[in-house]
Amino acid sequence: MTATYDGLLRDAAAALSAAGLDNVRFEARLLLAHATGLSIEQLIARGNEMAPDAVGAALRELTARRIQREPMAYILGEREFWGLPFKVSPAVLVPRPDSETVIEAALALLADRDRPWRILDLGLGSGCLLLTLLRELRAARGVGLEVSEPALAVARTNAAALGIGARAELLLGDWREPGWRDRVGGPFDLLVSNPPYIEAGAIAGLMPEVSRFEPKLALDGGADGLAAYRAIAAEAPRLIVPGGRLLLEAGEGQAPEIYKIFQSTGFTAEASWKDLGGIDRVVSLTY
Ligand SMILES: C[S@@+](CC[C@H](N)C(=O)[O-])C[C@H]1O[C@@H](n2cnc3c(N)ncnc32)[C@H](O)[C@@H]1O
Repeated sequence: MTATYDGLLRDAAAALSAAGLDNVRFEARLLLAHATGLSIEQLIARGNEMAPDAVGAALRELTARRIQREPMAYILGEREFWGLPFKVSPAVLVPRPDSETVIEAALALLADRDRPWRILDLGLGSGCLLLTLLRELRAARGVGLEVSEPALAVARTNAAALGIGARAELLLGDWREPGWRDRVGGPFDLLVSNPPYIEAGAIAGLMPEVSRFEPKLALDGGADGLAAYRAIAAEAPRLIVPGGRLLLEAGEGQAPEIYKIFQSTGFTAEASWKDLGGIDRVVSLTY
């Protein structure tokens, strides 16, 4: 069925809208750009031209995936974080704007951009936290730990694409297993983590993009959502230099409990960092 690029765009937007999705023209345009390999500007310029039939077929396939509520980032294979392009796959959490609060806090605390800071990231996923910090802090070195092999492969791809090279040591490992602390080494000036923090029983009720498509390993924080914080708190005192910092992403309403967990292992609470929605998103502690 032959159609112009604008016609294909209209059909895709209508199909997304009929499925109850929002931002349908925007998403349809991104899907068409992905199907064609053209930029948004090129698509606008060619709006009245006839598109090859194969483009129409590819766009319908991508649109059908989105109608099943597959996240745009998995369909496109990429998501921007702190202005940097990160490859993503269904093995990793889609990087969230809220997590940029961790970067904002870290750059404020590690104000000297030229110092050879040592940074640890627990639960790398795409690598968006550690790799962004290593891009911003050019003399810093980092270690990242990740339990999922396919997620680790994505983080390694991103490290190479972002030119981080040997400044990042990305390790397979599990903070539930004894001995993990020895493997990551240290001590570190900064420990960052966005661990899984959703209460296990709440996952099924999240939006379908999350509950059906994002990896359970990245979401499931155990019965009360705090299991990962307890595991990390048990070892954190031996991972951090005196005066070092911990910045931990928190779910809405979790900050007070997380402070208690880390205070019980010797850390001192500092003011938390709020996300753009005014929620206490990043818990800050010092040792
Ligand atoms: C919420 S995601 C965060 C990913 C990434 N840091 C970000 O901010 O987008 C948590 C990550 O921790 C990893 N993870 C979960 N349990 C783990 C464990 N026991 N040991 C190491 N990594 C774990 C998951 O596989 C997932 O990649």
